[in-house]
Amino acid sequence: MEKLVIHGGTSLKGEVSIVGAKNSAIAILPATLLCKGICTLHNVPNIIDVKLSCQILEALGSKITWLSSNSIIIDNRNITCTHAPLDLTRKFRASYYLIGAMLSRCKEIEVGLPGGCNLGARPIDQHIKGFEALGAVSNLSQGKINVRADKLVGTSIYMDVVSVGATINVLLSSVFAEGTTTIDNAAKEPHIVDVANFLNSLGADIRGAGTDLIKINGVKNLKENITYSIVPDQIEAGTYMLAAIATKGDLIIKNCIPEHLDSVTSKILEIGGNVEYLGDSIHVWSNSRPNKTVIKTLPHPGFPTDLQPQMGVILSIANGTSIITESIWDSRFQYTAELNKMGAHITAQGKSAFFEGVESLYGAPVYATDLRAGAALVIAGIVAKGTTEVFNVKHIDRGYESIENKFSSIGAKIKRVTEGE
Ligand code: UD1
Repeated sequence: MEKLVIHGGTSLKGEVSIVGAKNSAIAILPATLLCKGICTLHNVPNIIDVKLSCQILEALGSKITWLSSNSIIIDNRNITCTHAPLDLTRKFRASYYLIGAMLSRCKEIEVGLPGGCNLGARPIDQHIKGFEALGAVSNLSQGKINVRADKLVGTSIYMDVVSVGATINVLLSSVFAEGTTTIDNAAKEPHIVDVANFLNSLGADIRGAGTDLIKINGVKNLKENITYSIVPDQIEAGTYMLAAIATKGDLIIKNCIPEHLDSVTSKILEIGGNVEYLGDSIHVWSNSRPNKTVIKTLPHPGFPTDLQPQMGVILSIANGTSIITESIWDSRFQYTAELNKMGAHITAQGKSAFFEGVESLYGAPVYATDLRAGAALVIAGIVAKGTTEVFNVKHIDRGYESIENKFSSIGAKIKRVTEGE
């Protein structure tokens, strides 16, 4: 078992470069199934969820070659199988994108019900609603779901909740549907725009991605060759922005799209930090203890739920009492119990958590309860006095590329240790 051992009390300083977005990559990898030729992808994050996606594609017949640690070639000329390996698809959430992609490619798919971080109930009713509206039939039994269609016909779909996954999945399944499909109350996250840009570069006709009304005019074929670069990861960039503020540091975060982080920038300015946009870099720094604030997580362009735990670390050491209301997931305050082991005073009650700011955090053994909680605990370890051990590193590796190397390069005293070493 691996753990991250952090000797805290350092201010982060220097430059850090952001890789491609996890949540975009794990949607675009299955989206390549719509291409009956060869896709070359650059800026692919080298993380566990991407490797899992590649293994699943290979099981369906894709040939995948890594050109370098962040570029891959996917040859989808021979997709031979419509049953994805259940053990792999159950391991992470984004395996649900195989449904939309394979409906388009083969009109049939069977996958294990998606796993992923335990953030509370994670229904896929809106995905199914979309597939069925397009003419598919779904059958859910024994932990797996089979979806098939004789033909897919465009229609109007209203999403009852704003869902990133359902929006992308309906996009994927409607590219070849006869006529026009509209998705109303669509999610607007940057990776939805990225998936639409990828598909449009292949010849799809998708309009309005990034707004709450997306229109897809069905096409008959797509190109058989594409080279595409994944959009920078706004959650990774936001994680380093918040780490700079938490540690009273000074970071230049390179290769990102600053405007994707406007909601985070606003909150950083509100609590007394400094942010400057420099083209495709963000300069973030702070010299003082953060002020208290009130935050509610919301779909994009609101404050992202995936940066809520990292912000929670800052508020745990802020001047005064802050409140975070989590409006997307039911169980996203599990990290607060771990921060309390480090001396924080946080009370989580239902959808809200109250952060009574303390002067200092102290090192302790803590457990990453999910991916972003893990990133938050790493930041807390860098802030804290003494030594912190973060266990369950596998959660962090699902979404952050070489987290200990990146944090080391900007001054953190962090190393990965295999238990027993
Ligand atoms: C994606 C991200 C995740 C992020 C979340 C919200 C991936 C792989 N994961 O998750 O990191 O935290 O967006 O930004 O991209 N819902 C339903 N029915 C559905 C689908 C969703 O009720 O069919 C609800 C969910 O329970 C949740 C809300 O809608 O309360 C948002 O979920 P959704 O946007 O779908 O999240 P994911 O795509 O799973």
